[in-house]
Amino acid sequence: MTTVFTNISELRTVAEAGTINDAALVAADDGTIAWVGTADALPTEYADAEQIDLGGRAVLPGWVDSHTHMVFDGNRAEEFEARMAGEDYAAGGIAVTMDATRSASEERLKELVRDRVAAGRAGGTTTFETKTGYGLNVESEVQAAKVASEFVDDVTFLGAHLVPPGADEAEYVEEVAGPMLEAVAPHVQWIDVFCERGAFNEEESRRVLEAGKEKGLGVRVHGNQLGEGPGVALAVELGAASVDHVNYLSEEDIAKLAGSETVATMLPACDLSTRQPLAPGRKLIDAGVTVAIASNLNPGTSYTSSMNYCVTTAVLQQHLTLDEAIEAATLGGAKALRRHAVDGGKDAQGRPAKGQLVVGAAADLHVLDADNAINLAYRPGMPATYQTYLAGKKVHG
Ligand code: NIG
Repeated sequence: MTTVFTNISELRTVAEAGTINDAALVAADDGTIAWVGTADALPTEYADAEQIDLGGRAVLPGWVDSHTHMVFDGNRAEEFEARMAGEDYAAGGIAVTMDATRSASEERLKELVRDRVAAGRAGGTTTFETKTGYGLNVESEVQAAKVASEFVDDVTFLGAHLVPPGADEAEYVEEVAGPMLEAVAPHVQWIDVFCERGAFNEEESRRVLEAGKEKGLGVRVHGNQLGEGPGVALAVELGAASVDHVNYLSEEDIAKLAGSETVATMLPACDLSTRQPLAPGRKLIDAGVTVAIASNLNPGTSYTSSMNYCVTTAVLQQHLTLDEAIEAATLGGAKALRRHAVDGGKDAQGRPAKGQLVVGAAADLHVLDADNAINLAYRPGMPATYQTYLAGKKVHG
């Protein structure tokens, strides 16, 4: 059924058309966008279609959350509280979540991921990536990948998240790059490594990422989160779609990113929750780097799926303009997942593109409970999302 969305105060297309005031948008029955423009220019052929009056509210593309770790059980509230009292974040906490996740049944993990996706949608997110990485053995990593692929758009294999306690580091790297990858690869699109002190060094990271590439997986990297390191350079060298965290960057790292197709994904909620300096978003954009903003939902460093909160933080504390922050959380995320439009609203694989409201792309809409998107930053922390539509169908509100 064709649906006409009317009475839109401002439609932020995140595309050439920019922001259209007093707008309308038509979703075709296949869930893609058939038309966008000012309401007074709506073609007469849509006069008899179903109409949804959005009551003078602002509409954006649904958020594209390109970095989450949703498949976990348990929480680490005590670790967080200790951090707020002055402890440093260390990768070792991942093992606590590994234990809780290995103990959970598949049904329980499904229920948790289902609820997390629903919570994300309630905050305007329509596209989700999520990672394995709390199983850390073949059986649990396969289970995590299968569970995730039932609920999200893109799944990433992160067997190289931490060397499990008691395992030999070199042997574990070979297990990840060998039998674990072999078993998980059919259920995922991406491979990722936590390339950081306390996790995996450059050589180990390269070994795992190259093995994933050979299996046909796209590359992503956790890099430069806790200090300067090789993550960014390795990501650019291997043609990664994105390198995530990017808190500590040398001038050389920034120049490498600017000259590449690798998206720098910032995770502001994580930076605040770990008391790390916020990623230098202003500097990255000024240098010509493509940036994304994602929630990094996980129990250790960022127990939130609120993209609204991340966008608010990017504006208030990272000095992005509202337009830049919205673009980073929509089109930026889509680029980080290679789901952005390359031709006629379709991505490189011919799928309806994400992150922009253009003809041919997915009719994924985030309707704000305000007539202007600046409220995301102007009224921080206030309820912002009114409704969420996925492929033209309401999934929240
Ligand atoms: O992206 N940095 C590595 N992985 C997660 C945190 C994992 C954890 O501490 O549980 C992150 O922040």
